[in-house]
Amino acid sequence: MAITETPRPSYSTGEKTSFAWQTARERWPVILTQAIDDVYRSVQGCTDTEKETEGRAIVEKLARLKYDVQHDRALEPIVDDGEPDVAAYNAELAQLGPLSWLKAPWLFAECYLFRRMSTFFKLSTHWTRYDAFARQKIRTFRSSRPAVLELAARYRELMQQIDAHKADKSENKDAAAVAAAEETLFAEMCEICLWGNATDLSLLTNLTYEDIQKLQGAEARRKAEANILVNDLPAAYKLLTKARDVAAQKPGTPERRVDIVLDNAGFELYVDLILAGYLLRAGLATVVVLHPKNIPWFVSDVLPSDFAALLNALASPQRFYETPSEEEGLQGKPAPVPLTEAERADLAFLFGEWSQLYANGQVVLRPNIFWTQPGSFWRLPKEAPALYEDLKASELVIFKGDLNYRKLTSDLDWDATTPFVEAIGPLGPGSGVNVLALRTCKADVVVGLPAGKDEELRQSEGGGGDSGARKWAWNGKWAVVSCSQGKEEASSA
Ligand code: F6P
Ligand code: MG
Repeated sequence: MAITETPRPSYSTGEKTSFAWQTARERWPVILTQAIDDVYRSVQGCTDTEKETEGRAIVEKLARLKYDVQHDRALEPIVDDGEPDVAAYNAELAQLGPLSWLKAPWLFAECYLFRRMSTFFKLSTHWTRYDAFARQKIRTFRSSRPAVLELAARYRELMQQIDAHKADKSENKDAAAVAAAEETLFAEMCEICLWGNATDLSLLTNLTYEDIQKLQGAEARRKAEANILVNDLPAAYKLLTKARDVAAQKPGTPERRVDIVLDNAGFELYVDLILAGYLLRAGLATVVVLHPKNIPWFVSDVLPSDFAALLNALASPQRFYETPSEEEGLQGKPAPVPLTEAERADLAFLFGEWSQLYANGQVVLRPNIFWTQPGSFWRLPKEAPALYEDLKASELVIFKGDLNYRKLTSDLDWDATTPFVEAIGPLGPGSGVNVLALRTCKADVVVGLPAGKDEELRQSEGGGGDSGARKWAWNGKWAVVSCSQGKEEASSA
C-alpha cells in the first residue's frame, strides 16, 4: 500500500486484496471501451469532415489510454487544456510519482483517469462539451421505468400526506403522532435516495438492466433495510427540525438550506430530486442546493446537462418511454408498452413540481471545480475556502454515493470501527459543516461499524473470508448512513 503523510495507508491499484486491483485491471478497460464505442458511433454520424477527423483522433487517444492502463504504463502529466486545475494535478503527480497505472494510489489514479479523458475533448474544436457517457446515462434511466413510475405515484401520494399533516397540525391533533409520522417519511425519502446509489453505471459493467430494475423497487428497499449497517438518520432529522424551530422564532422566513453533493445521473438524480422536493414541501428546508460535476466523471456522475436531460424526459414522457430506442429497433424488440393515463398524470405532476421549484430558485445547481480534484475532502478548507464557507451556510450537506464517501474518509485503510467523525478529519466536529453521507458500499473503505461486524461480514458468503479482502463491501449490497454534527463544537453523532 502507498504510504502517505495521512494517518493510515491509502488503497493502491497494486494491492491484490483491494477492490482497486480489480477496478484497474477489469473495470477501467471496460469503461474506456464503452467511451471508445460511444465516440466511434458519433463519428459515424458526422456530416462535418473536420469534426469526423477530430472524433477519430479522440478515439485513438482513448484507445492509447486503454493500452497504457492495461500495460501498466506511466501516468503522464495532464496536457494544458486551459482549465485551472492542470497545474495542481501535475504537481501532485510529480509529488507521488513516478506512477504507473497498476501500482498507483487508487483515489488519485482514478480521478486522474477521468480528468485525462476530459482533456481529449477539451482540446478539440468540435467535441469540447461532448459527454461520452451521456448515452449510457439516459439509456439506464429509461430502463429504470418501473421504479420511476412507482416513485412518481408515491411522491404524489406523499404530497397529499404532507398536506394532511399540515392540516392535522393546525387542528392540534396529537403532536407527537404527527411528528413521528413526519420522521418516518423523512427516513423513507432518505432511504429511497440512498438505494438509488446502488445502481451506478461504473458498476454496471457487472450488472444487467434486469438486475438494476430489481434493485430499485419498493419491495427491494424494504428487504434492504436490514443492510444499512450504520443509520444516523435520526440525528440528521433532529438537525433539520432544530433549524426549523430556531427559524420559527425569528422574524420573516430565514433561509434554511440543505445541500446535496450529487453522485450519479439518471435514476439516482431522480431520487435526489424526490428527496429535495420532499424536504422543501415538508418545510425541512427552504432551499436545496445541488452540486454537480463540471466534466464527465466516474461514468455516471451528474453534469448540469444531465439535469436538463432528466427534466426533458419528464416533460415528454410518452416520447421518452414509448419511442423504441435505436437498439430496440435493431434487435426487433416489441414496441414499449404505452404509459397509462395515471402514469402520465403522475409524471406530469412531478415535472410541474420540479420545474416550478427550479424556476423559483428553491432548487439550485451549483457546480464547482473542487468536486473533480484528485484529492480527498480533507483538503476542502485549504483548497476551496470559498466553497467551504458556502457549505457552512447549509443546515445539512448530504454527500451521495461511494466516491464521495471515499473522499470524505480520504480513502484510507481505516479500521472499520474508527468513528466516522474521526475519519472525515477537518470536516468533522468543529468544522462548521453538518455532514450526512448516504452511501452504498462499493469500495474497500468503511468506518463507524460496531466491533466485530466487519469480521462477521467477511465470513458471510462472498464476503472475502480470510483472504484479507473486504469483498462484502464491493457490490452495493450494504450501506452506511453516517452523520457528523460539525456545527456544534465537540459533539458528534
Ligand atoms: O471505480 C470504483 C469506484 O470509485 C467505486 O468506489 C464505485 O464502485 C464507483 O467507482 C463509483 O461509485 P459512486 O457512483 O457511488 O460514487
Ligand atoms: Mg458516481
